[in-house]
Amino acid sequence: MGMNLSVEIGKIRMKNPVTTGSGTFGSGQELSDFVDLNMVGAITVKGVSLEPWKGNPYPRTVETPAGMLNAIGLQNDGVDNFISQKLPFLRQFDTPVIVNVVGQSVEEYAEVARRLDKAEGVSGIELNVSCPNVKQGCMVFGTSVEGITEVVQAVRQATSLTLITKLSPNVTDITAMARAAVDAGTDALSLINTLLGTAIDPWTQTFRLANITGGLSGPAIKPVALRMVWQVAQAVDVPIIGMGGIVTGTDAVEFLLAGADAVAVGTGTFINPKAAVDVAEGIASYMEKMKIDDVRELVGSVKTL
Ligand SMILES: Cc1cc2nc3c(=O)[nH]c(=O)nc-3n(C[C@H](O)[C@H](O)[C@H](O)COP(=O)(O)O)c2cc1C
Repeated sequence: MGMNLSVEIGKIRMKNPVTTGSGTFGSGQELSDFVDLNMVGAITVKGVSLEPWKGNPYPRTVETPAGMLNAIGLQNDGVDNFISQKLPFLRQFDTPVIVNVVGQSVEEYAEVARRLDKAEGVSGIELNVSCPNVKQGCMVFGTSVEGITEVVQAVRQATSLTLITKLSPNVTDITAMARAAVDAGTDALSLINTLLGTAIDPWTQTFRLANITGGLSGPAIKPVALRMVWQVAQAVDVPIIGMGGIVTGTDAVEFLLAGADAVAVGTGTFINPKAAVDVAEGIASYMEKMKIDDVRELVGSVKTL
């Protein structure tokens, strides 16, 4: 009997537990010369809004020890362009597509969800209530129980697609945000988005990002992400997609042990374009070595010393 790597996130069946971190994999097509898109469990595309967004001024990214800061500002062509220009390419693969959604108002989130609900080839919506780089909206919603409740309820009414709420780590108690999202009707949670940070060049005595602050990602944030996934897994009973600094199969296994049902590879893709596939293969070889038949056996099975 073969090994089982497949997992379910709401109604989404993933052939392996690895998806791509939103914003680090474009709309899929950009990376398709390097990665067989049939080899990942799901493709999570970058954030889409109702109208096109220009994003923030440059420079927007800076490397940091074991990670990076970004302040892209969710540049995108808007949901209608996504549906007409990007989605047809993705339909040819046997891989579920999860669309990350951003908005500046509750109505905007709901309207984007409504349009995606009608589009052919979308399996899930990942609600980005947690990006730190946009002045209005986004993280504003994700850092209060009231904000999360309002957005999730509105989007829940707008779509029957699997709804995944992406949580911000820039809060004191992430379990309160997780419970609010679940109570408002989310099917699943993903975490973590980036941690708010900044970087300064001592020789020019200026900030390194035009936006001043940006979101920290990459291996530097893995311990924080693991801790939050573990806390949220104790607090709620919906599937979790864990992310934050995953670059190898065993990084991913750590998230599964902490209670994630699936994982996403984000910044790792910038170092190795096929990191998501390598992580999926790394999970399989770990299971082989450890004589584990079903990836779901790993979920939440971390032990205390
Ligand atoms: C350049 C860049 C762009 C991102 N854009 C988005 C986005 O559009 N929507 C979103 O929810 N998260 C976005 N993120 C956050 C990632 O999806 C992920 O949650 C975070 O980077 C932590 O995972 P990692 O350490 O594997 O990158 C972005 C991250 C980076 C580095």
